[in-house]
Amino acid sequence: MDKEKIYQELLPQVEALMAGETDEVGVQANIAAVLKERLGYFWVGFYTLRDGDRLRLGPFQGSVACYSIPYGKGVCGSAWAQGETIVVPDVEAFPGHIACSSLSRSEIVVPVFDGQGRFRCVLDIDSDELNAFDETDKKYLEQLASLMTTHLYGQA
Ligand code: SME
Repeated sequence: MDKEKIYQELLPQVEALMAGETDEVGVQANIAAVLKERLGYFWVGFYTLRDGDRLRLGPFQGSVACYSIPYGKGVCGSAWAQGETIVVPDVEAFPGHIACSSLSRSEIVVPVFDGQGRFRCVLDIDSDELNAFDETDKKYLEQLASLMTTHLYGQA
């Protein structure tokens, strides 16, 4: 099955997972699980702005990861600072990339906002292959982020 088809099936699943549930950690955990299961990427998870000036490790699927990331640092901190998705075809070519695992070769980070446009967290996905992420991932993962805004953070 191609990636586009997988995402098209996956998004309604994600929406169903969020129906009636408002707990951030639980919802993030189930989203990480469904993305990992369906897409098979090496690491899938969230870094959340919980207390002050650093992103904190949230629910994830994959190998152990760093606990916190400062504003503007690494791919995650840069996506937070820029307020935009960052696709990294080769992590070694991204200045300041934070290597949580030497197996990670490419990465996509999508920021998630609340209903007032305030930053809440990033969805971070790593692949053990170079150049794994493209416009298809960006398009559907941004749709997923919008679903989180509407169903999880909309009332914030
Ligand atoms: N590589 C990320 C850090 C998080 S790990 O990929 C899980 C970054 O540069 O922000």
